[in-house]
Amino acid sequence: MRIDILTVVPELLESPLGHSIVQRAKNKGLVEIHIHDIREYGKGNYHQVDDYSYGGDAGMILMIEPIYTLINKLKQEREYDEIIYMSPDGKTLDQPIANRLSCMENIMILCGHYKGIDHRIREHLITSEISIGDYVLSGGELAAAVVCDAVIRLIPGAISDETSALSDCFQDNLLSAPVYTRPANFNGWEVPKVLLSGNPKLIAQWQEEQSLERTARLRPDLLKKE
Ligand code: ADE
Repeated sequence: MRIDILTVVPELLESPLGHSIVQRAKNKGLVEIHIHDIREYGKGNYHQVDDYSYGGDAGMILMIEPIYTLINKLKQEREYDEIIYMSPDGKTLDQPIANRLSCMENIMILCGHYKGIDHRIREHLITSEISIGDYVLSGGELAAAVVCDAVIRLIPGAISDETSALSDCFQDNLLSAPVYTRPANFNGWEVPKVLLSGNPKLIAQWQEEQSLERTARLRPDLLKKE
């Protein structure tokens, strides 16, 4: 899989996409992440990328030309399954969206900044818009990093335990059962006895009960989803 990210603040993406499972997936050749600085395509000597908005609203808007030039250049090099714009207006990221994206070959993610981007980019070049929640971030970069993390961990081989991503919370609209490790007793706080029983059937049954109970109590909305 290849992910191209377009941004005016590349530094914001380096650390979130340079460690842990995402970095390991890159090392294993499972994913290529290319970060493009829109500023390199900016106008004139100052590489201008933003301008005042028509209509006089306060705040700067990312201009159409640099983004158009960069998107077109990339589209000439390969075909993209999706060209995504990160925006609070978009569809809220959930596990089915991450699952769908993880099966794609090439995706492009455009990060907005300032007061937004010239709307013609969204009308003519973007194929889908994704939000990571009902709040406004300073730019789309952290949201893009969230999407990349959620997607990349699903690529087969990204997580050493093959079944691990499939047993995640939300894969079946259920929260996970609680997990524990040694010591079995920490200052009197005990690990549930059943987990020490060595009986896989009893353990699986307990985990299922815990999943259902926690989902009903903490996220009853999930039980109503298809
Ligand atoms: N850009 C600014 N806020 C955002 C959000 N909540 N989700 C995705 N992109 C954003």
